[in-house]
Amino acid sequence: MDVVPDLIARNRQMYGRPGRSFFVSDLTKDALPRVDVILCRDCFYHFSFRDIQATVANFKKSRSTYLLATTHTSAGPNRNIATGDWRAINLQRPPFDFPEPLRLLVEDPATSESLGLWRLGDL
Ligand SMILES: C[S@@+](CC[C@H](N)C(=O)[O-])C[C@H]1O[C@@H](n2cnc3c(N)ncnc32)[C@H](O)[C@@H]1O
Repeated sequence: MDVVPDLIARNRQMYGRPGRSFFVSDLTKDALPRVDVILCRDCFYHFSFRDIQATVANFKKSRSTYLLATTHTSAGPNRNIATGDWRAINLQRPPFDFPEPLRLLVEDPATSESLGLWRLGDL
């Protein structure tokens, strides 16, 4: 899912097939399907605190089971920004205070950029 229609159209054309779908959707507020795992990679670090919190609430509302999301485990304290800017976010620090992730997939050891796995019911 993405908010950019052209990107979704391109993905549909190049990678769409039965069992693989692409949707235009605003993660902060649009209804999402109930799934086993929501993969939200490289997204929150562009969002304001308010948009991150709205998105997590929206993920929970979908009644999906797990969230796999980008977190910088060495970053913090977290700094608020206007959505569209960039800064590293550590989801285990305020104002998010996520618990220890169930699994951590380190993408870049130099920056601590990782994908953390949480049960949405624990957030
Ligand atoms: C840095 S890219 C990451 C893309 C991909 N997840 C990856 O890991 O390569 C961030 C993406 O988030 C999308 N995006 C920004 N705000 C969004 C929103 N409110 N809802 C859905 N997608 C959004 C942007 O259009 C962009 O494609």
